[in-house]
Amino acid sequence: METATLQEIDTTVKAWLQEARTLVYQCMQNDLTVEQKTGRLDLVTNVDKQVEQLLRGKIKTLMPTAKIIGEENDHGQIKSMVGAVWFIDPIDGTMNFIKQRDDFAIMLALYIDNQPILGWIMDVTKNHIYHGGPQLGVWRDDEKLPVPADITLNDGLIELSASRLVANEMHFEEIAKMSSGVRIIGSAGISFIKVLEGKAVGYASKMKPWDFAAAKVLLETNKILVTTIDGKEIDMLLSSTVLSATASAHMQIVQLQQP
Ligand code: IPD
Ligand code: CA
Ligand code: CA
Ligand code: CA
Repeated sequence: METATLQEIDTTVKAWLQEARTLVYQCMQNDLTVEQKTGRLDLVTNVDKQVEQLLRGKIKTLMPTAKIIGEENDHGQIKSMVGAVWFIDPIDGTMNFIKQRDDFAIMLALYIDNQPILGWIMDVTKNHIYHGGPQLGVWRDDEKLPVPADITLNDGLIELSASRLVANEMHFEEIAKMSSGVRIIGSAGISFIKVLEGKAVGYASKMKPWDFAAAKVLLETNKILVTTIDGKEIDMLLSSTVLSATASAHMQIVQLQQP
């Protein structure tokens, strides 16, 4: 695919995200409809559904034959990463959105034949879009982001998910103790942004493909490693405990997983 074409897609998707943001703010003027999916901590609102519907429609017009994996319509029908595959997380941090109307993201990613092509994470309330990919570099709006410094776990903040830390799975407690401090935000997208900006040395959580697809494109472009927590390649169609971290912090955390 030509760079110019990727640039056009990037510009187009940024406009979609602004449209989605306007929709979110319009919906926030009315009461939200909140439903439980698998339990009281797994919620979906009318806004999640409407944003996904908007973005699905846009993708279908732009690339009619592409496959789409979106959180609120995922029926597990996409079984292969061959060809163009889009990932949509219409509201990442739904609980934050419901409870505090802050720290939530809209995320999109494009992969072709399993290769990361473009990713977008919009911090909705700050109105920043983190976007780009291997051919375009990584940008916050119109500002190119540098590759973060390779800081060790001991010298950096680590972003973790609360549920994994409380359960102390995958040595999360040791990871926390080795670090300079733990930060728990409640939105994978916003945590990934901290790593992308070099404000945290890593983020680890159990995630579904739409939670990590966009971040994987952006982070890997800027030399942050993104693997399963035991250092293996991620399957883009499965949920995994994903670790994204600087090379040094990644090595330390993967070593902790060894028996
Ligand atoms: C969730 C949030 C949360 C993370 C979960 C995700 P959702 O996404 O990013 O911070 O810990 O793993 O599922 O459901 O709000 O899109
Ligand atoms: Ca959800
Ligand atoms: Ca999510
Ligand atoms: Ca979501």
